[in-house]
Amino acid sequence: MFNTEILKYSHFAINKAAEYILNGEIIGLPTETVYGLAGRIDNIDSINKIFHIKGRPQDNPLIVHVSDIDMANKLIKKPMNGILEKLANKFWPGPLTIIMDKSNLINDVISCNLSTVAIRIPDSRSMINIIKKINIPLAAPSANISGKPSCTSAFHVFDDMNTKIPLILDDGNCEFGIESTIINLSEDNRICILRPGGITLEDLYSVTKNVYLSDFVLNKRLISKCISPGVKYKHYSPSGDVYLINGSNYSFTEFLMKNIDTSYKNCAIIFKNDFLNIENIDIFYNGDLNDYKFQSKNIFSILREIDKKSYDKIYIRAPKKIGIGLAVYNRIIRAADFKVVDLD
Ligand code: TXA
Ligand code: MG
Repeated sequence: MFNTEILKYSHFAINKAAEYILNGEIIGLPTETVYGLAGRIDNIDSINKIFHIKGRPQDNPLIVHVSDIDMANKLIKKPMNGILEKLANKFWPGPLTIIMDKSNLINDVISCNLSTVAIRIPDSRSMINIIKKINIPLAAPSANISGKPSCTSAFHVFDDMNTKIPLILDDGNCEFGIESTIINLSEDNRICILRPGGITLEDLYSVTKNVYLSDFVLNKRLISKCISPGVKYKHYSPSGDVYLINGSNYSFTEFLMKNIDTSYKNCAIIFKNDFLNIENIDIFYNGDLNDYKFQSKNIFSILREIDKKSYDKIYIRAPKKIGIGLAVYNRIIRAADFKVVDLD
């Protein structure tokens, strides 16, 4: 049990965080995507603590964060080259995670006995300064309790991790608000998006046309065959039943009018200019229908607020699957455990 402290980003806070991590503790810290729970990769006790604190299934591997490509190259079998190196040079530091064959510096606890490791250079002064200070890569999953919406502020981390970790570094709200894009190189040498995120399909497409979305980004079926263990689990979810509704403002309203059960506590997430004239439903707005960046930045804090208010039924009007909107859609479809209603 810890008396969890929140410290604003500063030189002092970085030194303190680095000291905790060197001593094998886990701390909460911001990245440009979401807050993470960081521990040193070379200490099995630290890694086990991360799984334990988060309540994470033992077969769901962690992302390893490094400060530069040289550090990444030590963690993989062969130094980066070809298209992956090109993508890394273009998008690192940033929200792109690359799966590659691991070297023996990556222990089996981090990678859950897979032969690969997930690596990224975050665009986060907190993370980068700590890694540079201790010269050890950091394993860090998102800082939420397993299955819950991710944390995009230090206060979210406090809500989930109070007493479980000694320190949370606070550097404000995360820029992207959604986790990194995860890619790997498929057998036919194409770039496969396993999880969409801050680096969009369109961004990747600007570098190579050989890129595609894995089937399980938007579909539940095939999950037994999936390559990224995380996609097996229900994720990002408030308690209560979440429904993802594909349809216009008009059909969404009509659907709710017909289907809402007022014996439940109901809420809806809609867009700024939507109009929902129904009683017995609380409304949350997630920006303009075309403002995907706003939606990604805010979706998890809305889901967390909904979780706190204990709604039974949560109806979400689907965002467009364009740019980072695709990643928002992916998080919602998983929060809904694939309960999708197609209108229109
Ligand atoms: O933006 C992010 O990526 C954040 C910040 C903290 O960096 N981290 C994050 O970690 O989202 P986490 O643990 O919540 O999600 C990591 C995902 C999981 O779905 C996991 O299955 C997948 O990465 N993963 C990790 N190692 C893998 C591997 N070797 N092969 C395939 N998938 C892997
Ligand atoms: Mg996560």
